[in-house]
Amino acid sequence: MKTILVTGGAGFIGSNLIKKLIDEGHNVTSLDNYSTGTNENEVKKAKYINDDIENIVKLKMRFDVCFHLAAQSRVQPSFDDPQESLFFVSVVPEPQLSPDVFKESDISANASETLTL
Ligand SMILES: NC(=O)c1ccc[n+]([C@@H]2O[C@H](COP(=O)([O-])OP(=O)(O)OC[C@H]3O[C@@H](n4cnc5c(N)ncnc54)[C@H](O)[C@@H]3O)[C@@H](O)[C@H]2O)c1
Repeated sequence: MKTILVTGGAGFIGSNLIKKLIDEGHNVTSLDNYSTGTNENEVKKAKYINDDIENIVKLKMRFDVCFHLAAQSRVQPSFDDPQESLFFVSVVPEPQLSPDVFKESDISANASETLTL
């Protein structure tokens, strides 16, 4: 069993990923600001933190693995405001993550490659 952080866990991909991780017996926490995510996507047994990934360094918990899915997923807003969209993908620089939040620097932006934990 791994202790896993899913950013964007209340979104489409994050919620489906969490279902899979819970089914596999992992301990899962979501960090999501609910900008596009919804409570209806929440999965029983997962823990949900309503906050922006900008505040990830304030988390008191420590994780084995992070799936980073919190992002601007729609195309048009990235054309309308590219700087804001760039912020979403670059806000979690690795030096900030380790060692305070993560037990290991096992950080993935591609869930499909790391489902076997
Ligand atoms: N849905 C697809 O078909 C698809 C395909 C390829 C890639 N992706 C990528 O996968 C990721 C997730 O996509 P999705 O379809 O689940 O989108 P989504 O909008 O359903 O989920 C994104 C989640 O991130 C949260 N979020 C956004 N900014 C945040 C922030 N600053 N702090 C905390 N939470 C924040 C939102 O509230 C939402 O719950 C995106 O990077 C998207 O570009 C999606």
